[in-house]
Amino acid sequence: MPDSQIRSEVIRADFFKEVGYTTVWEDERIISEGLKPRNGERVLSITSGGDFSLQCILSGADVISLDFNPRQNFLLEIKKGAALSLEYEEIWQFLGLKPCSNREQLFIRVSEHLSDDAKSYWKAHSEKIRSGIMLSGRQDRYLRLVAKVIKLIQGKESINRIFSAGDLQKQQDIYDKYWNIRLWRCFGSLIFNQQIMNHFFHKDHFRYARKNEHPAMIFRRQTERIFRDIPLKDNFYLFFAFNKTYPGPENCPAWLKKSNFSALKQNINHLSIISGELEQFIFSQPDNSIDCFNFSNIFDWIDENNFIMLMGETARVATKGARLCYWTNAINTKRDLAILKGKVEEISEDHDLSGKIYSNCRTTGYSSCTVGRVKK
Ligand SMILES: C[S@@+](CC[C@H](N)C(=O)[O-])C[C@H]1O[C@@H](n2cnc3c(N)ncnc32)[C@H](O)[C@@H]1O
Repeated sequence: MPDSQIRSEVIRADFFKEVGYTTVWEDERIISEGLKPRNGERVLSITSGGDFSLQCILSGADVISLDFNPRQNFLLEIKKGAALSLEYEEIWQFLGLKPCSNREQLFIRVSEHLSDDAKSYWKAHSEKIRSGIMLSGRQDRYLRLVAKVIKLIQGKESINRIFSAGDLQKQQDIYDKYWNIRLWRCFGSLIFNQQIMNHFFHKDHFRYARKNEHPAMIFRRQTERIFRDIPLKDNFYLFFAFNKTYPGPENCPAWLKKSNFSALKQNINHLSIISGELEQFIFSQPDNSIDCFNFSNIFDWIDENNFIMLMGETARVATKGARLCYWTNAINTKRDLAILKGKVEEISEDHDLSGKIYSNCRTTGYSSCTVGRVKK
C-alpha cells in the first residue's frame, strides 16, 4: 500500500490488541436499506465483527473487508471458513449460539480455509473456540454485563414478560407498568459511568467526546427507548445480549439466516479480507472503482481535517451514484457531511433515509447514523 499523508490516531490503543467485537452492534438495516449493495458491485466494508461484510456478499456484490486490527479479520476468516465447511446447524453450534460438545472437531474442518496467521491465532486461543467465539469480543462481554445488571434490577420474570409481549402496544404497557421503577432510573449511573466505559473500551474511544451531557443520561434514555419504543420481537441484538444466542433462524443477522444460507455459500468467495488502515488503503484504490462504503463508526476517532481528506479520497474512488454509511457513537462528535461544502462537493447526506434508519435502530450507543450519496 502506498504511504499516504495520514495515519490512524488510535491504532496503538490497547483495545485493538485483542478481538474487540465478535458481533456488529450497529443496526444492519443500514446495509439493507441504506447501502443496498447490488450484484456485481464493489463494496469496501470495515470488518468489525464481520457481519456487515458477510451481509453485503448475499446480493452477489464483491466485498473488500478492511480492518487495521488483524484479529478482527481472523474472526471474519473463521465465519467465512464456517460458511465454507459446515452445515447450517453446525455453524450455530460452532460459533457458540447452540450447545456443542465437539467445537474443536468442527474447528479442524473450518481451519482448512484459514490463512496461516489466522490458524495460529485461533490455535493459541483455543479456549475461545471451545466456549464459542461469538461471546468473546470485548464489546460483546460489556453488553452481556449490561444485560446482567438489567436482569438484576428488573428480575427474570419482568425480562421474560417484556420480551414475549408480542406487539408494541403491549410492550409499552408492560414497560410503563412494571419497568419504570426507582432503581431502574439509577441504572444509567450504575453501568454507564466513565470509569466502567474506559475499562471496557479504552479512553481513545472517547477522544472526541462531547462534554455537554453526562453519558449516563444519554445511555439511560437510549436503553429506555429500545425497551419501550422499538419492537422487541425482532430485536435480535438485545435478545443476544440477554440469551447468548438469537431468537431463531430467521430472527438473527442477515448473513446467518437460514433463508440466506445458500446465497452465503454460493457467494462466500466474493469476500476478500485485508488488514490495514483506511487512511492508507483508500489512497491505493483506483478512481471510480467502489460502489458502496461501510465505514462503521471509525470517524469517531478521526479528526475533522483527516475526515475531510478521507472523504475527498472516497469521492475520488467512488463510482457515480455510490453510497456510503457510518455511525456516530452516542457521546462523540458527529463528523457531518455538511462540512464538506466547498471542499468535497460530490458527497451529500440523504437526511430522510439516515433519519428513518436511526429512529428505528435496535441498538443503543449511537447518536446518529449517516447515509450519503456520491454525485459525479
Ligand atoms: C469502529 S469499530 C466499531 C464497532 C461497532 N460499532 C460494532 O458494534 O461493530 C469497528 C472496527 O473498525 C476498526 N477500525 C477503526 N479505525 C480503523 C481505521 N482507521 N482503519 C481500519 N480499521 C479501523 C476497528 O479495529 C474495529 O474492528
